[in-house]
Amino acid sequence: MSRATLEKNPQEVASMFDGVARRYDITNTVLSLGQDRLWRKATRSALQIGPGDAVLDLAAGTAVSTVELAQSGAWCVAADFSVGMLAAGAARDVPKVAGDATRLPFADESFDAVTISFGIRNVVDHAAGLRELARVTRPGGRLVVCEFSTPTNGLFGTVYKEYLMKALPSVARAVSSNPDAYVYLAESIRAWPDQPELARRIADAGWGAVRWRNLTGGIVALHAATKP
Ligand SMILES: C[S@@+](CC[C@H](N)C(=O)[O-])C[C@H]1O[C@@H](n2cnc3c(N)ncnc32)[C@H](O)[C@@H]1O
Repeated sequence: MSRATLEKNPQEVASMFDGVARRYDITNTVLSLGQDRLWRKATRSALQIGPGDAVLDLAAGTAVSTVELAQSGAWCVAADFSVGMLAAGAARDVPKVAGDATRLPFADESFDAVTISFGIRNVVDHAAGLRELARVTRPGGRLVVCEFSTPTNGLFGTVYKEYLMKALPSVARAVSSNPDAYVYLAESIRAWPDQPELARRIADAGWGAVRWRNLTGGIVALHAATKP
């Protein structure tokens, strides 16, 4: 059982995701009230990919995000260090690679576009993950980070935090195969940097033209950038 705390090392993160893998997709859809599908479509369209593009979906988990990207006609590969999550998505017909975000098993400049959805917050050394994404992207290639963020409306933000802090763990107890992981989810979302700060960190990792767009009032933000 994973500890319900933010202090995890990469091995603990991987085994926590192994523990939620079996019911990961359904738990996401329930907790996001179905919004996850819209966020995935928005990520695909922000990446501006199509036939002929090679695309890395990092921290792809069960590859639910990768199959959405593959709808574009691009060649898309899922990478994750939780073998349990990759195995839970075995029926999804996309290439899958086991690998750590901070030491990606790909050559320099291999991809036209790279993306990470609901993953960078979980990469313990997220600056190293952003630098690795830059390394494997060709010059002029694109990055989109889809991640929980800070609601733009103050009142809504308060309601959201109440929802997160109070309702999320008990809803998760009803649907998830590892409810403690969802206590971690709530805590990690609260601790995560807001939109301008994440933009700064992406730029610091070697990306250019960093900008963002809020989805669902800032519950989620899409940060986009270009490899110089
Ligand atoms: C919340 S899931 C997101 C899955 C999928 N992208 C989605 O949109 O549903 C986060 C994933 O990040 C992966 N992850 C966390 N740290 C990682 C690392 N250092 N290297 C590779 N994957 C990592 C976890 O194993 C997990 O599958």
